[in-house]
Amino acid sequence: MKAIELKHPLVEHKLAILRDKKTGTKEFREIISELATILCYEAMKDAKMQKAEIETPIQKMTTRKIDEDNYAFVPILRAGTGMLDGIISVVPNAKIGHIGMYRDEETFKPTVYFFKVPKDIDKREVLILDPMLATGGSGLDAIDLLKQKGVKKIKFLCIIAAPEGIKAIEEKHPDVQIYTASIDEKLNEKAYIVPGLGDAGDRIFGTK
Ligand code: PRP
Ligand code: URA
Repeated sequence: MKAIELKHPLVEHKLAILRDKKTGTKEFREIISELATILCYEAMKDAKMQKAEIETPIQKMTTRKIDEDNYAFVPILRAGTGMLDGIISVVPNAKIGHIGMYRDEETFKPTVYFFKVPKDIDKREVLILDPMLATGGSGLDAIDLLKQKGVKKIKFLCIIAAPEGIKAIEEKHPDVQIYTASIDEKLNEKAYIVPGLGDAGDRIFGTK
């Protein structure tokens, strides 16, 4: 499946503020959250709907609602949690799992330090949240862990993706649809995305 890149003037505008090194923690967090909401709208275009009988102030009507039980959202710690607010604002009953991973600064390989997901995760469609898809190492390990738990349908939502990370996921997991606000140019020698936005976790949590 080909990665889906949001193409919208407002998204580009928000990304311009997000990428700017002068943007502070508060605004950075707010924009990560807003873009996560937009990615969620895009990724849930094919959402499973249920018939619902409601009454407007004018008359009764039959409409449809999303079956929220069909979904689980799984942020990759730390930076992925920055996307959660934006998701919960539109899917308030979302079940949330967590995968804790950090990338070694020299080898760029991820190490898993935490894994906790809803018990019935195998019956849900899972949307992985991580602002940055760089080499793809973290994303690949997260997808492997979820598939080992029996998850059949996975989507990967990120704010910025490098072509290298997209290629890695498309090659190993062609069934996983990637949604991103931007496909950037490349990775640099430290495996940071160029032009990117720097270290997403540090900018969300103010740790540098
Ligand atoms: C960042 C980012 C991704 C990962 C992407 O996390 O949030 O999880 O790197 O890189 P990859 O595609 O090359 O694996 P990091 O390991 O810096 O941890 P943090 O979220 O705790 O800052
Ligand atoms: N992780 C980040 O936070 N930023 C990058 O550019 C690459 C990995």
